[in-house]
Amino acid sequence: MNDAPVTAVIGAGLVGSGWALVFARAGHRVRVHDPDAGTMARLLPWLEKSARELEAAGLLADAATVVGRVQPCETLQEALTGAGYVQESVFETVEAKTAASLAIDEALEGDAIVGSSSSGIPASQFTEDCRHRDRFLVAHPVNPPHLIPVVELVPAPWTDPQTMERARALMADIGQVPINLTREIDGFVLNRLQGALLNEAWALYDEGYADLADIDATISHGLGLRWSFMGPFETIDLNAPGGITDYAARLGALYHGIAMDRTQPRPWPAETVARAGEARRAALPETELAERRAWRDAMLTRLAAFKHSNGLGP
Ligand SMILES: NC(=O)c1ccc[n+]([C@@H]2O[C@H](COP(=O)([O-])OP(=O)(O)OC[C@H]3O[C@@H](n4cnc5c(N)ncnc54)[C@H](O)[C@@H]3O)[C@@H](O)[C@H]2O)c1
Repeated sequence: MNDAPVTAVIGAGLVGSGWALVFARAGHRVRVHDPDAGTMARLLPWLEKSARELEAAGLLADAATVVGRVQPCETLQEALTGAGYVQESVFETVEAKTAASLAIDEALEGDAIVGSSSSGIPASQFTEDCRHRDRFLVAHPVNPPHLIPVVELVPAPWTDPQTMERARALMADIGQVPINLTREIDGFVLNRLQGALLNEAWALYDEGYADLADIDATISHGLGLRWSFMGPFETIDLNAPGGITDYAARLGALYHGIAMDRTQPRPWPAETVARAGEARRAALPETELAERRAWRDAMLTRLAAFKHSNGLGP
């Protein structure tokens, strides 16, 4: 008898299909449901191709076995049968998340818990009326989740602490890197950090301090090199002789001054966005966007392999 854990993946678009690979790679039996026939038709070919790429990079022993663990399901009920964990990855609207959560809630078995891939809508906005709302949380991945392991776990006010603990243990067990938030906040941690950087990048570009390519290079050939294996706190801890407190003493005033420059946030200006669009399309025509995304994923795969072989993986 196969006693591998059963996991349901509800919604099999970009992120749901990535999740299916993550759980199958970890040995789970994965039951996937999406009402869109075209999406379901693309699932297995995508899994086969992606699993082979992981195998070629030395990140997976046997691609065919991994893909064999994924079972497409016609109905939500079928997908939830026997599932101890449910990963919901439907459209990012309150309406879609509410409908999916209520339907999952109805069919939930035993003590199963439900993580939503929600990028920014907190669980309190779509799980309030669920009977088992103490077993719902946000489990926000980064795209593609099989190549970028961090997952933000965010409780609604009614999420049981045990649900959080179980989700954290599960994510660590399947090779992801769980990050716990103590309570809801717009954008969670990841997009707040990304937002702070983007807001400043737009402002510098808008004010003409540097062009788009040079601002990008500051990250890809600068800050980003360290960030692929350490965060901003560890970075500054190593960047002053006496560590983080020494760094704060030396440079705290500079950063305070920078923050005081930007006390009146405003929307990204439409004209500036249009100018950035022209610059990006001159550097990369729209017809080449898909190819460049595939290149990005190939680079991420090699980076994951490098981190893995240097003991820097999850
Ligand atoms: N794309 C990203 O970069 C990214 C990153 C992190 C998190 N997310 C989040 O993941 C979720 C899914 O995003 P995506 O990019 O995969 O979108 P997507 O449009 O590629 O896929 C969404 C899928 O959900 C399906 N769906 C809609 N209602 C459903 C229902 N009731 N039951 C089952 N399936 C249903 C749709 O048919 C579609 O295939 C969103 O909450 C999104 O914010 C996306």
